[in-house]
Amino acid sequence: MSDFLTELDELATAAQRAFAAAGDADELEAARVEFMGAKSGRVKDVQKGLGGVPKEDKPAAGKRFNEVKQQLQAWFDAAQERIKAAAVPGKSEPFFDFTLPGRAPRLGRLHPITQTIEELKDIMGRLGFSVADGPEIEDERHNFEALNIPHDHPARDPLENFYLHTAGVGAGQKQAPMLLRSQTSTVQIRVMENTPPPVRIIALGRVYRPDEVDRTHYPMFHQMEGLLVDRHVTMADLKSVLRLFASSYLGADVHIRFRPSFFPFTEPSVECDYYWNGGWTEFGGAGMVDPHVLQAVGYDPEQFAGFAFGLGIERLCMRRHHITDIREFYRNDVRFLHQF
Ligand code: FA5
Repeated sequence: MSDFLTELDELATAAQRAFAAAGDADELEAARVEFMGAKSGRVKDVQKGLGGVPKEDKPAAGKRFNEVKQQLQAWFDAAQERIKAAAVPGKSEPFFDFTLPGRAPRLGRLHPITQTIEELKDIMGRLGFSVADGPEIEDERHNFEALNIPHDHPARDPLENFYLHTAGVGAGQKQAPMLLRSQTSTVQIRVMENTPPPVRIIALGRVYRPDEVDRTHYPMFHQMEGLLVDRHVTMADLKSVLRLFASSYLGADVHIRFRPSFFPFTEPSVECDYYWNGGWTEFGGAGMVDPHVLQAVGYDPEQFAGFAFGLGIERLCMRRHHITDIREFYRNDVRFLHQF
C-alpha cells in the first residue's frame, strides 16, 4: 500500500512541476500526454499498481488515486488558463489598437531647383522656345573657342575652371583637355552647329565653377540659356522676352534692370538684375550674338541676327521663394526641402 501511495505522491509532484514549467500550448500538451495520456500516460501506469494493493486497503488507495487524478486535472486547467492569458493582447504583449488610423509615410518631393526648371520650361515654352540639351563634360572648343573666348582670356584660367585630369590616349596621342562646363552657352554652339537658322531654344542644366561659396555663389549651380536667331532680331526683342519672362516667373511687380556689360560672345552685352530687399541682385547675362560666333558655326551674319541670355536658376528661385542663402538648396535639410 505504502509503495503505491509513494508512487502516487511522486507522480503528483512531477506532474505539478511539468504543468507549471510549460511555456506554451505545445509544451503543455506534451506534459498532458506524458502524465494524463489515455493509453500510456504515467497516471495509467500508476493505476496498474492498484491491483497489487491488499484488498482491505483498496478503498483508501482508490480514493487517494482519484484525488491525485483530480488534482492533476486542476493543475493542468490552471496552466492552460495561464498560457491562454499570456496570448491575449494587452496582458503580456504591448497593447496594440487595431482601430487606429495608419501612419502616413512622408512622401518625397522634387527638389526646388527641379521644380523651378520645370516651371521655367513651361513659361519659355509658351514664348515659343523648345528645350535643347548638351553634355556637362565639355571640350574647350564648345566652352570657349567657338564662344569667341581667346586662349589668353582670364575665363580660361585653369584656376577658374574644373578641368578634368585627362591622360594621354594611345601611343603618342594626347587627349584634348576636357572640363566641367562653366556655362550653358556651350549648348548655343552645339545647337547652331547642327541646326540651320531660325532657332529658338533654351537649355537648362548644371554648370561648375570654383567660386568661393557665399550667400549667392555655389561651385555647382544651374543656368537657363536662351538663344533666338532669326532675321531682323534686335536688342528690343531680347529685353521684351526677358521682361516677359521675369514678370511671368517673379510676378508682375518685379523690378528688373539691364546694365551694360561685356561677354566675348555677345555685342552689345548686358547684365540683368532684380530688385530685392533694398538692393539689386544680378540674375543673368545677355546680349546680341556676336557676328564672329554666328560665322564660326556657319551662319551668315548679314542675313541673321540673334540674342542670347544665361540666367542663374538658383538666383531666380531664391527671389521667387524669398530664400536668402543659396547654400540652403544643397544642405539636404528636409525641413527646408519639405516646404516646396
Ligand atoms: C554667363 O555665364 C554667361 N554665359 C551668360 C550669357 C549667356 C551672356 C548668353 C550672354 C549671352 P555669368 O558668369 O554672369 O554669365 O553668369 C550668369 C548667371 O549665373 C549670373 O548672373 C548668376 O545668376 C549665375 N551665377 C554665376 N556664378 C554663380 C555661382 N557661383 N553660384 C550661383 N549662381 C551663379
